[in-house]
Amino acid sequence: MSAFHTGVLLADVIPFLNIKRSNKYIDATIGGGDYTEAILSKGGIVLGIDQDEEAISFCRGRFKEYIKDKRLSVALGNFENVHKIALENDFHDISGIVYDLGISSGQIDNLERGFSFKNGKAVLDMRMSKLTNVKASDILNALGEKQLAGIFYSYGNLLEAKLIARKIVEARKTSSINTVQDLIDILRLIRSDPYRDDFLAKVFLALRIVTNNELESLVDSLPRSIDLLTSGGRLAVISFQSIEDKIVKNLKRSFQIQEITKSPIVPDSLEILQNPRSRSAKLRVYEKI
Ligand SMILES: C[S@@+](CC[C@H](N)C(=O)[O-])C[C@H]1O[C@@H](n2cnc3c(N)ncnc32)[C@H](O)[C@@H]1O
Repeated sequence: MSAFHTGVLLADVIPFLNIKRSNKYIDATIGGGDYTEAILSKGGIVLGIDQDEEAISFCRGRFKEYIKDKRLSVALGNFENVHKIALENDFHDISGIVYDLGISSGQIDNLERGFSFKNGKAVLDMRMSKLTNVKASDILNALGEKQLAGIFYSYGNLLEAKLIARKIVEARKTSSINTVQDLIDILRLIRSDPYRDDFLAKVFLALRIVTNNELESLVDSLPRSIDLLTSGGRLAVISFQSIEDKIVKNLKRSFQIQEITKSPIVPDSLEILQNPRSRSAKLRVYEKI
């Protein structure tokens, strides 16, 4: 466990990866580095990827010695380019690749980044990568009402999607939406009941998914990772939203892999108690044929 994030389902993921000394593994979402640490401690060699500069610089500090010993390379980039990043780092014959999707506690708890509805003053940014240009606020200020409704319905499962979109379009006629508070003020017109936090969380999740192109990156990345694996290599993916899990589940149609987990592994009640953010996690594991 790092100060940055607590790795979810760690005790389940690592045995599935069959770590062997001196074999190579990719941690496609290194975050605070808990999975990487576990793989390194079993003798694996790791390429850790993250699109967030803060995660990368945290891991460069945490794993200084491993980096010096050339047992770990850390790369800033989007996992949709996993094949290019592996090539640039001369990383081939890969025995295992792990994805732990979504954002880390470090990202949510940094209230300046706009991922959380708990800091009204923050700019409504939500970009994991500062190399991209479009902030969440840009999306709210630019897209049409129908497109916005589609985002809230598809990614947030929000029955009020059309109403949210209409209120956003009305509000931005008076002044543009720039901060977390600007959005909360609009949403308050729709819901002010005790379950409002759940509602806000869904709106923020939908916006985060679209701001970071999360589903498109995943769809592009997974087949590239499968191509990188050696025969018998393992792909482990932890997802947190049903829409992500659907993408991961569909991999079983691929003729290149077989499913190891017949149904997804989920955290037990103790893990959920110790780390409530793990509650919606689902782990699926595949093996390259
Ligand atoms: C849930 S955290 C991973 C936590 C990590 N397993 C640990 O033990 O600390 C997800 C991480 O994936 C990164 N991430 C999400 N989507 C990404 C993408 N498309 N490319 C690269 N990194 C991504 C986020 O920036 C975040 O740091």
